[in-house]
Amino acid sequence: MPKRETTFVCQKCGYTSPKWLGKCPECGSWGSFIEEVRELSKNPRSAWIDHKGGKPLPITEIGSLKEEREKTGIGEFDRVLGGGIVKGSVSLISGEPGIGKSTFLLQVASLLSEREKVLYVTAEESPEQIAIRARRLGALKDTLLILSENNLEKVSKYIDEINPKLIVYDSIQTLFLPYIESAAGSVSQVRECTAFITNISKRRGISSFIVGHVTKEGSIAGPKVLEHIVDAVFQFEGDRGYNFRVFRSLKNRFGSTGELAVFEMTERGLKEVPNPSEFFLSERPLG
Ligand SMILES: Nc1ncnc2c1ncn2[C@@H]1O[C@H](COP(=O)(O)OP(=O)(O)OP(=O)(O)O)[C@@H](O)[C@H]1O
Ligand SMILES: [Mg+2]
Ligand SMILES: [Zn+2]
Repeated sequence: MPKRETTFVCQKCGYTSPKWLGKCPECGSWGSFIEEVRELSKNPRSAWIDHKGGKPLPITEIGSLKEEREKTGIGEFDRVLGGGIVKGSVSLISGEPGIGKSTFLLQVASLLSEREKVLYVTAEESPEQIAIRARRLGALKDTLLILSENNLEKVSKYIDEINPKLIVYDSIQTLFLPYIESAAGSVSQVRECTAFITNISKRRGISSFIVGHVTKEGSIAGPKVLEHIVDAVFQFEGDRGYNFRVFRSLKNRFGSTGELAVFEMTERGLKEVPNPSEFFLSERPLG
């Protein structure tokens, strides 16, 4: 029998406790604790936060590694990122259902697949749905690989085989690691899956975009608990009744936060609005 660890996790904020609590001491929610179990022997905690070790070095000897960036060609997106995608960085793209996360990341994946191997992991929609969308967006490329898989361990085997330079994970709430017994979307799964993705990205220099759902009340804990693990957090905002979407950086280790870009949702996908300040001055409804 593998050793098991049982903890109770607040599904609102991710606070963990060895015993069940009626009220969360961290965020004050009632009835938010769920028992989560994992098998310890299969998942040594040290395995995932596995930064390359080494001996202490004078800081002046470290500076030689330069930040490699890649432009997507979507000018406003590159600007909010801080000048393009930083190689090996992990970014969370969050937003309410239907806002356009999958659409936009499919556009980005398609653009970059012209230059390098790109893998789009769909744990939510079928490959056929993705292909239909890609056709509508003009994003069909035979260099863009679509993998329909929820099990992140299986995904990692394909990553070893394919060696992509960019991966989209859509979405973090539908991926799971089999050695964690709680359901996909639970705080434990979301946190461990993100740490797992981060580890792969840093080790192999793969840039990763992770889709995270946020409800109207912002009540899913997932994106909140993983904000500190990832390098950058971006959010799509807007109202589905209107076609405009605001893309905002909430956290960015490689650029300034609070940057924003405006996009318009069209049949061919999200199109950048080149001058956001003019856009706001013209006071078009954003919802
Ligand atoms: N033919 C179309 N023409 C214009 N806009 C469309 C068309 N089809 C879909 N859309 C837009 O795309 C949106 C859905 O985008 P997408 O599926 O990328 O969102 P998402 O954030 O990934 O949603 P989910 O949370 O369901 O995964 C719709 O709400 C609509 O605004
Ligand atoms: Mg989607
Ligand atoms: Zn809580």
